[in-house]
Amino acid sequence: MEPKSKSAAVVNAPKNKPQLLEEISSENRQRTITSDSELNRVLGGGIVPGSLILIGGEPGIGKSTLLLQIVLQTKGLKTLYVSGEESEQQLKMRADRIKSSNAEVFVYTETSVESIIQQVEQVKPHLLVIDSIQTLETALIESAAGSVSQIREATHVIQQYAKRHHLPVFIVGHITKEGTIAGPKLLEHMVDTVLQFEGDRNYNYRILRTIKNRFGSTAELGIYEMRGDGMRAVTNPSELLITQRDELVSGVAIGITMEGMRPFLIEVQALVSPAVYGTPQRSATGYDLRRLGMLLAVLDKRCGFRFGAKDVFLNIAGGLRVEDPAVDLAVVAALLSSYEDTAISNKYCFSGEVGLSGEIRAVNKVEQRISEAAKLGYEKVYISKYNQKISGSQSELAKVKTVAEFYKMLF
Ligand code: TYD
Ligand code: MG
Repeated sequence: MEPKSKSAAVVNAPKNKPQLLEEISSENRQRTITSDSELNRVLGGGIVPGSLILIGGEPGIGKSTLLLQIVLQTKGLKTLYVSGEESEQQLKMRADRIKSSNAEVFVYTETSVESIIQQVEQVKPHLLVIDSIQTLETALIESAAGSVSQIREATHVIQQYAKRHHLPVFIVGHITKEGTIAGPKLLEHMVDTVLQFEGDRNYNYRILRTIKNRFGSTAELGIYEMRGDGMRAVTNPSELLITQRDELVSGVAIGITMEGMRPFLIEVQALVSPAVYGTPQRSATGYDLRRLGMLLAVLDKRCGFRFGAKDVFLNIAGGLRVEDPAVDLAVVAALLSSYEDTAISNKYCFSGEVGLSGEIRAVNKVEQRISEAAKLGYEKVYISKYNQKISGSQSELAKVKTVAEFYKMLF
């Protein structure tokens, strides 16, 4: 009888024994610090042994470039880089482009999980890179590479091996713009860390974002510039995100956003013009459209501006996407500046959340935000009146309570 034999197999299977948590040492939590400070930070301080790190992103965004660069530049990190997508020559050409070399990096073009594990046993790397999970197949399953069951099973086999041997593994997963075909999403629960590599093809920089991390915060973010010779870590993102102009233009305001532990300044651009054809248009790039709608309604209701008959376009310069509500005040400033066709001084910047009743609410980490603004030469920072106790600011602070009051102060 089938059920009986199955349960017998379960009973006889070799098992781990329960262990006292107290007696388990945490000694093998020694992290590997790579050459890339952005990656180290995003991971929560380097690579944890035995961890599975999924790095997702659209094809062509630079996942292979980033990983190859990191393994080539981290001295002493013996790596097996498995590619199921490119030939050895292609990998070599990419390495030449990056202009880095590391005598301990092995490349291996293979798609069979069993062969890969065999080679890992031979080479004994400190790090395994799988590029990409969509190309792998295991003999345990019959379906084609890239199918849901293959991806899941292949990851499972690798995961088991990695945990047993404390081998950290980077797994590349392609995501398409339309969503996730048989990809990273279904792996999220199987891996320890999920990173997303994103960016706008029209811009040179890329953002590495933590989506999930068992060993660190998910609020961290790394910024890179894609160059002809690989990725360069951007340590001062504000410089990159703010347009350098010779003259002032209306509709531009600088906001201070926090991404993880790092404050940086971004440029908000608004264009408000009379709606010519029927329904007024609303469009937002890099900012939540519904939030824009909310802010317009607040300006309408609390200050009597007639945005209802206007087209409104909003853009966060540089292609970055911001979700920090502290950017609200800069958005309002940009909208009002365009509405009035009056430019705002380029020495001012803004940080405050706007509530439904038109009140300017306090934001978190306000001191860090202000000191970043001061560091970059901003002379005046508009913040909420409700932000208490700010010590030793080098910029002048303008404290505002409501959007109506804000408007009067600005214009
Ligand atoms: P790639 O790493 O192959 O992307 P992914 O693995 O995410 O599919 O990156 C491909 C793009 O990057 C390609 O358009 C060429 C460009 N690139 C550079 O701009 N600079 C470089 O140094 C390299 C190696 C690639
Ligand atoms: Mg690739």
